[in-house]
Amino acid sequence: MPAQIVNTERYPLDRLDSKVGETWLNQLRASLHRDGSCTLPDFVTTQALQLMAAQARSITHLAYPGPTEVTPYFFNYRLGEGESLPDSHPLRRKGKRRLAQVATDLIPTDSLLSQLHRSGLMIDFLSSVLQQPVYRNCDPYQSLNISVMDEGGCQQWHFDSGNMVTTLLLQEPEGGGVFEYAPAIRSETDENFTAVQAVLDGRSDRVMQNRLRAGTLSLFRGHYSLHRVTPVVGKRQRLQAILGFSTSPGMYGKLESSILHYGPRVAAIEASDPLYPQAS
Ligand SMILES: [Fe+2]
Repeated sequence: MPAQIVNTERYPLDRLDSKVGETWLNQLRASLHRDGSCTLPDFVTTQALQLMAAQARSITHLAYPGPTEVTPYFFNYRLGEGESLPDSHPLRRKGKRRLAQVATDLIPTDSLLSQLHRSGLMIDFLSSVLQQPVYRNCDPYQSLNISVMDEGGCQQWHFDSGNMVTTLLLQEPEGGGVFEYAPAIRSETDENFTAVQAVLDGRSDRVMQNRLRAGTLSLFRGHYSLHRVTPVVGKRQRLQAILGFSTSPGMYGKLESSILHYGPRVAAIEASDPLYPQAS
């Protein structure tokens, strides 16, 4: 086990109250406000990254592929249901999704990634950035995932359901697998379908690119920013961890979503020995 997971020499997570810490936090807040994202290269130590990537590679065979054609608003987003809309409308546009995910219950709790997800350092860090209490998600399948992309793997343009997503790239592909996003393209009050359609059509000038390196932590406001991952090139898999945190305590996702993304085994577990809390 490495002595240290987070690269605190580069990032002052262990001294957030210091002058250096406060200056850094202000920079992160400004970046989140301006671009809807923060990118922190070398967030974990080299030694920790090597072990995390090796541990992730050892369980990629447990990843479930999930849906392969989805709209930017995902399967459970009822917006526009029952409306008559042209095929070109964003609510009717399905994009190609080629990725598989390892669910939380299949990631060993003693793995380095699980340790990072549970660490107080992360909770304190995210609470300080957002200036409100942050909690680790509780969902037994969704709270911590490893996304696995083989050659040709990609993720379609979409919005996230959660307000902020925290990801850590564990292994970068030989080529492709680039994160692209259109910051703050929609808001609570305006879906801005015209601008979304321009992105889907490949004629928007709002799209930014982020070529992430292994070891990079990203904070991303994916609920308002349309985003995708371009197709992976080469044999080396793109492996990315998604660490679930929320500003609400006791966050669980929907069982329907877990079955769709992690497979029918979830339905079987929930029918026999459920991991979701049962109503009494
Ligand atoms: Fe996303």
